[in-house]
Amino acid sequence: MSLIRSLFTIKPIEASLTASDNLRRTLGLKDLIVLGVGAVIGAGIFVITGQAAAEHAGPALTISFVLAGLAAALAALSYAEFAAMLPVSGSAYVYAYATFGELLAWFIGWNVVAEYLLAVSSVAVGWSGYGVGLLHSIGVDVPSVLANAPLAFKDGHFVVTGAWINLPALLVVAAITALLYAGTRQSTMFASVVVVLKVLVVILFVVFGLQYIDTSLWHPYVPASQGGDHYGWSGVFRAATSVFYAYIGFDAVATAAQETRNPQQNVPAGILISLAICTVLYIVVAAVLTGLVPYAELATAEPVATALAAHPSLAWLKVLTQIGAVAGLTSVILVMHMGLARILYSMAGDGLLPRTFGAVHDRFKTPHRTTVLVGVVGGILAALFPLSLLGDLLSMGTLLAFATVCIGVLVLRRTRPDLPRGFRVPAAPVVCTLGVIVCLFLLAQMNAGNWMLLAGWTALGMLIYIGYGYRHSRLRSRG
Ligand code: ALA
Repeated sequence: MSLIRSLFTIKPIEASLTASDNLRRTLGLKDLIVLGVGAVIGAGIFVITGQAAAEHAGPALTISFVLAGLAAALAALSYAEFAAMLPVSGSAYVYAYATFGELLAWFIGWNVVAEYLLAVSSVAVGWSGYGVGLLHSIGVDVPSVLANAPLAFKDGHFVVTGAWINLPALLVVAAITALLYAGTRQSTMFASVVVVLKVLVVILFVVFGLQYIDTSLWHPYVPASQGGDHYGWSGVFRAATSVFYAYIGFDAVATAAQETRNPQQNVPAGILISLAICTVLYIVVAAVLTGLVPYAELATAEPVATALAAHPSLAWLKVLTQIGAVAGLTSVILVMHMGLARILYSMAGDGLLPRTFGAVHDRFKTPHRTTVLVGVVGGILAALFPLSLLGDLLSMGTLLAFATVCIGVLVLRRTRPDLPRGFRVPAAPVVCTLGVIVCLFLLAQMNAGNWMLLAGWTALGMLIYIGYGYRHSRLRSRG
């Protein structure tokens, strides 16, 4: 086989489906919605909203949420079609393998690895902010040098901040790694309890916050531009890229397809319902948040608590929100950590990563090696870097993966029109093309420094592919 052709070898869909028959199908629609909401609602709404409003969009943050939600919804429809057709773990990576061939599958898989890994570490940083706030509420103060990133990324350079380490962020990743090492079942049970708590807190914030909204704070709705992406419409678009982060995670539903009953119906429904719930909550929370305090005051590590603290009669809700946020962020870390283990497992199964990543613990029956690897790398990133950087890179990797999935739907409609599709994207040529355009538009809002880091990550991925995956690919060694 010629070199070029071999790089674009497609893994037949039938091969992926047969390989998937060995996992037990225990999850129903309700479980998938819990999983979806569990993975989605997290630092995006509890933390990133504050900075996005204060620095970029002002009250027009709601528009940013609508825009980002549009990108997520268009991609979610494409994910739904793929997941119904290819209900296996591995998600976008497997779809790309079936559509574009190995090289692009690796590229997308590598971006998805970035997505899940950075979700673990960035949400852990958000967790640290609320955890420290909660401890402060009960009279325990954590020194700020021990609870902040020692490094920041400014104008394309890393700078030291004076802090030593973000210890709470490191500790939460370590604790979740230990939990996942010892068993997936206990972990998912923990996640379902937490999801209920976090949604409840968000609803309470909206219901009680509504009564204290000062509508004059919404004027001017789009504050005048102060240059660059600071307010004005360019700020609204930049904020959309930041808060896109809040929608990331619904694709975790697709990674559980292999363990779902009747996946052709349940997975698309699970993806779309989770996303719909989160979108509505986000838009309302953004409106309430910017109506409670002047947007410029929201750039804190725990903006939802900050908004509540500004109203003494809502003080009772502040501690509850901190508890809900800490619990909610824990569930995001957990679901993303678990999802990454499944994706690495898929890649190892295809021979693109060392076999050891596909190993399962004798006693605990968990992918313990990948779990530890994700814990170590995710923990180090969380301990060293700020949420803004980790979050932006996460959004970029995910937007690239989402755009590819949208294109993939169109390609596969042409190359494999025969495949049974449990769900079809309505008006696919329009919806998928629009999906790609919106994702690329949001990507274009990122600054050059972030693009350099993404290029560095991609280069590292390509080195691993050339050094390992290319030579060990099971598909090409057969071909
Ligand atoms: N969507 C996830 C969050 O907001 C990553 O925490």
